[in-house]
Amino acid sequence: MATFHTASILVVDDNPINLKVLFEILQQSDFKVSIAKSGESALEKVEALLPDLILLDVMMSGIDGFETCRRLKANPKTKEIPVIFMTALSDVVDKVKGLKLGAVDYLTKPIQHEEALARINVHLELRQTQMKLVQKEKMSSLGQLVARIAHEINNPVSFVYGNLPHAQQYINDLLKLLHLYEIYTPHPSPEIQAYLEEIDLEFLKQDISKLLKSMQMGTERIRDIVRSMRIFSRLDEAEYKPVDLHEGIDSTLMILRSRLKATNQRRAIEVVKDYGELPLVECYAGQINQVFMNLLANAIDAIDERIEDWEKNRNTGSQCFIPKIRIRTEVIDDYTNLVISISDNGVGMSEDVKNKIFDQFFTTKPIGKGTGLGLAIAYSIVVEKHRGTLNCKSKLGEGTEFVIVLPQLCYKK
Ligand SMILES: Nc1ncnc2c1ncn2[C@@H]1O[C@H](COP(=O)(O)OP(=O)(O)O)[C@@H](O)[C@H]1O
Ligand SMILES: [Mg+2]
Repeated sequence: MATFHTASILVVDDNPINLKVLFEILQQSDFKVSIAKSGESALEKVEALLPDLILLDVMMSGIDGFETCRRLKANPKTKEIPVIFMTALSDVVDKVKGLKLGAVDYLTKPIQHEEALARINVHLELRQTQMKLVQKEKMSSLGQLVARIAHEINNPVSFVYGNLPHAQQYINDLLKLLHLYEIYTPHPSPEIQAYLEEIDLEFLKQDISKLLKSMQMGTERIRDIVRSMRIFSRLDEAEYKPVDLHEGIDSTLMILRSRLKATNQRRAIEVVKDYGELPLVECYAGQINQVFMNLLANAIDAIDERIEDWEKNRNTGSQCFIPKIRIRTEVIDDYTNLVISISDNGVGMSEDVKNKIFDQFFTTKPIGKGTGLGLAIAYSIVVEKHRGTLNCKSKLGEGTEFVIVLPQLCYKK
């Protein structure tokens, strides 16, 4: 699996010499280091930095390390960040108090390089593992939720959808009956006449069929979405079995439909499907759909980002720009490999970014938008679970292509 992203560490100490020593050790080990010279300043900076780990001196003027830690743990945004306390050998501090406050470890000053790095790495790795587990759990319960919602909506929608043609038929019958009355009773009583005018019968006749048609379209759409949700989650089919990959791609596109639509900033994204003749493909369908979802969502983000960049530079080119995602599938190597390529004409990536995209937690998106897990997960599903390959070609300012190759046994359709 790909390497971890550069971990960031916040060092808090009121002693400039300690700060300098730690800063150098950590920077030499390729950590991203920030410093704060007091508890107050650490609390001010921490929300913007959201470091992976905090090294916190206990004895400081102003609020001490314990109080700083207490406040970090009381803030939902920062309470998950592991804190390691630093104390001088000569300090008489209550170590248990620190651990009770939620600290994960202690380092003793003067800092021993090797020991400090070993301890820091242990806690960073623990945190990565924990976040990975949380994410996995979230995804699987999300899949279950999607499947359950789809199941629950399916029945009532079927009632509506299934009964609409009958409703249409009854209404046609009644209109026909009315028509016959009109022919054979040309001069109805004044009461009927008045009522005909009141309900504006002519308008009603025209409008009712439009109304039924739009109800039909609405229910069809709900039915398609529900179907896509079921195909997408594929909880019923957790095992390795032959499936139609195009169906998986189409249902993923359906789920992303609202994001493909035109916005104030751009036209609708054109999706070009260049589907080859694919056999049924042996795979974990739910997981492969997750890969499509992650790649397609990134492609849409990349297109939106390109347009944002244009807007920022007040470039007029954006009006003529046709945002496009192309999905190509084909069988190669005499039916032993399948290729699925997803390309976009979004922002593209620099070499530097491209080298890190499969790293867990690597993201260039703002906090709250990106998790930096989409491609790491896609990579592990394609490469580790399916023994395939996942490659990326990209050019800054032009676009990106992801190519999945899945090895296949021959399952001719
Ligand atoms: N199609 C793409 N075009 C440009 N950049 C991309 C594309 N797909 C991924 N990236 C880059 O890779 C990073 C990691 O992607 P991902 O693992 O899905 O995490 P996230 O989408 O949460 O940032 C993105 O933040 C982005 O910088
Ligand atoms: Mg993503």
